[in-house]
Amino acid sequence: MAYRPIPRKYRPQRFSEVVGQEVITETLKNAVKEGRLSHAYIFAGPRGVGKTTTARILAKAVNCEEPKEGEPCNECSQCLEIVKGSHPDVVEIDAASNRGIDQIRELRESVHYLPAKGKKKVYIIDEFHMLTKEAFNALLKTLEEPPEHVLFILATTEIDKIPPTILSRCQKFVFKRVPVELIVKSLKEICLKEGFEFEEEALKLIALSSEGCMRDAESLLEQSAALGMGKVEVEKVSDFLGILTGREVKELLSLGFKGNKEELFKKIKELEERGFNPSFVVNQLIEVVEREFLAPSTLTEEEAVAAYQILTKAVKEVNQHPYPFTALFFNLYKLSYFKEVKLLKDLVVKGSFTFKKEEGEKKTKNDTLDAYIKEIVREEGRVLIVPDNKLSEQILRSKIDELRKKFNCNVVIKEAERDVKKREISQKSKEIIDKIKDKFNAKILYIKVKDENSSS
Ligand SMILES: Nc1ncnc2c1ncn2[C@@H]1O[C@H](COP(=O)(O)OP(=O)(O)O)[C@@H](O)[C@H]1O
Ligand SMILES: [Mg+2]
Ligand SMILES: [Zn+2]
Repeated sequence: MAYRPIPRKYRPQRFSEVVGQEVITETLKNAVKEGRLSHAYIFAGPRGVGKTTTARILAKAVNCEEPKEGEPCNECSQCLEIVKGSHPDVVEIDAASNRGIDQIRELRESVHYLPAKGKKKVYIIDEFHMLTKEAFNALLKTLEEPPEHVLFILATTEIDKIPPTILSRCQKFVFKRVPVELIVKSLKEICLKEGFEFEEEALKLIALSSEGCMRDAESLLEQSAALGMGKVEVEKVSDFLGILTGREVKELLSLGFKGNKEELFKKIKELEERGFNPSFVVNQLIEVVEREFLAPSTLTEEEAVAAYQILTKAVKEVNQHPYPFTALFFNLYKLSYFKEVKLLKDLVVKGSFTFKKEEGEKKTKNDTLDAYIKEIVREEGRVLIVPDNKLSEQILRSKIDELRKKFNCNVVIKEAERDVKKREISQKSKEIIDKIKDKFNAKILYIKVKDENSSS
C-alpha cells in the first residue's frame, strides 16, 4: 500500500475514536441516531484537534446506508466514497484558498439540487472565518432558509471573527486541546501498531511540545521514529524538539537553588546553543514544580511554592526579553535567595540571627534551645530556667523532657516577663530583609533579633 503519513493513516473513522472531544461526539452520535440534526454546525477550536475529522465522520454518519448507533459503518459505498473524498454530495471547501471563492459561488447554485447519491448534501467549509464578505452574505442567505437536504459544517480556528448573524443560525461546538495523557495514550497505541520501540518519557515530551494538537503530536512521533531508526528515545527526542528531559529540569532547579552561578550559566548557555525554546523551558520548569508540590521528591513544599512564584514572574520576562536566556538565567539564580528566606524564618521564630551560618554548620539541638533561655539558675536539686520571653517560655515548656535530660535533674521553667522591647536591628539585617521583601514581594510582619551574629 502507498505510504501515508501517520496523521492521515490514523485519522479516526468513527465518533468513538476521536480522542478528548467526548461531549461533542456523543451529542452528534445521538442526534444522528434520533434524526435530530441541525442544518448547520460550527466546529470551533485550535488546529489539529479533530474538527475536520469529526466533520467527515458526521458526513458519513448522515449518508451511511447502515449506520449503527449513530456511527457510520465505514463499509457501504457511501462511507467508502466519503473516505476517498470522491462522494459527489460531500463537498469540502477551504475558505483560505482562492478556489474557496469559486466554490462558494458554485455552492449558491448547487445547494438547491437534491443529493446525487446520498441522503444529504454536506458542505464542509474549513477556515470559514476567512470567507469574503460577499461569500459570507451568500452563505447567510442559504442559512436563513436551508433546504431540507443540506447540512453545513463550518470549521474555524477563530470563532471571534464570525458575525453574530451566522452564529445565531448554527449549533456551535468548541473543540478543546487534547490533554497530555490522552495524547500519550494515542501515541503509545500508534507505536505498538507501527512497531516503534519507545521510551514513555519520550512520548510525554512529544505530547508536551505539541501543546494539545494531536496532528502535531503524530507528525512529531513520525519524525522522531525516523530519526531514531524506529526507536523513540528521550535523549534524541529532547534534542530534536528542543525541550528538556525531566532530569534536566530538576538539574536546572537544583543549580538555581544552590546558587551555583558557573554551572547554571554553563547549562543555560548549552540550552541556547542547542536551540531550545526558552519560554518552553520555563513552562516545563513550572510543570515540574507543580508536580513536586503535589508529590514532593526533590523539593520541599516551601521550595516548590517559592519556585512557583519566581518562575511565574519569569514567564512574562522571558517572553518579552531581547535576551530570553539571560532572563532565564537570572530568574533561576533568584531561587538561591530562597535559602535566605528560610534562614530569615528561623530568625523570626527563634529570635536569633543565623543568616551567615554556612550549610553544615547547623546548631545542635541544645544550642537551639539555648537561644530561648535568658538565664539558668542552678538550685538545690533542680534547675530554674528563665525564658527569654513569652514565646520562648512556650517553646521551652514543650521541650521540658529534653531539658530534663540535658541537665539530668528536675527542671523548672520560670514564668517569662513581659516581652522585652524590640531592639533595633542592624543596618546589615535591614539590607537583607529589604532584599528579600523586594525579591519575593513579601510582607514581613514581625521581626525580633537577639544576639546578632553577623561575623563573616
Ligand atoms: N481528537 C483527535 N483524536 C484523534 N486523532 C486526532 C484528533 N484530532 C486530530 N487528530 C489527528 O490529527 C489529524 C488532523 O486532524 P483534523 O481533524 O484535520 O484537525 P483540525 O481540528 O485541524 O481540523 C487527524 O488525521 C488525526 O490523525
Ligand atoms: Mg481541519
Ligand atoms: Zn456506511
